[in-house]
Amino acid sequence: MTDSRPLRQFLDLMASSGISHLPKVTLPKPAAAPGKLLANRLKGAAPPTRQPSLSKPGSQTRLMSPDRLTPNSAQQPDVMETTRSLLEQTFHTAEQKAEGLSRLAESVAACKRCTELAETRRQTVFGVGNADADIMFIGEAPGADEDRQGEPFVGAAGKLMDKIIAACGLKREEIYICNILRCRPPGNRNPHPQEAANCREFLDGQIRIVAPKHIICWGTVAAQNLLGETRPVGRLRGQFLQHGEAKVMCTYHPSYLLRNASAKKLVWEDMKFFMNDLGIDLG
Ligand code: URA
Repeated sequence: MTDSRPLRQFLDLMASSGISHLPKVTLPKPAAAPGKLLANRLKGAAPPTRQPSLSKPGSQTRLMSPDRLTPNSAQQPDVMETTRSLLEQTFHTAEQKAEGLSRLAESVAACKRCTELAETRRQTVFGVGNADADIMFIGEAPGADEDRQGEPFVGAAGKLMDKIIAACGLKREEIYICNILRCRPPGNRNPHPQEAANCREFLDGQIRIVAPKHIICWGTVAAQNLLGETRPVGRLRGQFLQHGEAKVMCTYHPSYLLRNASAKKLVWEDMKFFMNDLGIDLG
């Protein structure tokens, strides 16, 4: 029998965490940026010159053999305890948040809950960006480039994401970027549900510490896992959903756009919708 009390305490903490952070500064309302299709912008057109100041803040089917998956976090009580005590704190300043994230990253680096992933990863890929960001991006899982470099979205999909960020007049450093998983699934397969569940504590911790006002879920895996949804991203886009105190928008994954260029205009529509909620008119 495993002791479920730490898990219960952690879940209670998570449940109460959505209302425990301080309000953040209000976003300025910059002038409207010229509206152009993302497809055009991605061909190299200049991004809007005005940079808003934002700093202050699929399918999941295949089953694995049970011995390759750790069914719950109780088998790594040390990681659990570190995370739990960390999240008992409140994080008000950017410095406190950065410190909290770096301590959480240490727990992630030691995590071996998903046996296969822990054996095959070069390193964990925790997250990157502004610890005090208003905007958080959530992707699926690290790929080969991310596994090598230890940072999310640095490969081909990341380069496209950078163009989308620039086309919106944002800067990557203003955003906090992470994934559903912190380890690369071999062959870039979809995360297994148990892997996503094992990693959820860390994702929740990152959301709790950064406390973003807005989250973008890139792709079906991110959207379904964050929101507990079963609908594909094509059915979830075009609206804001709520996660805790954050407004969540779902759109297509940049990797999907690399394979389906025609979907770029849909993502651009989504980004205009998203930026409009920040008071920024992209046309
Ligand atoms: N795809 C993702 O979903 N995340 C990454 O970090 C890289 C590629």
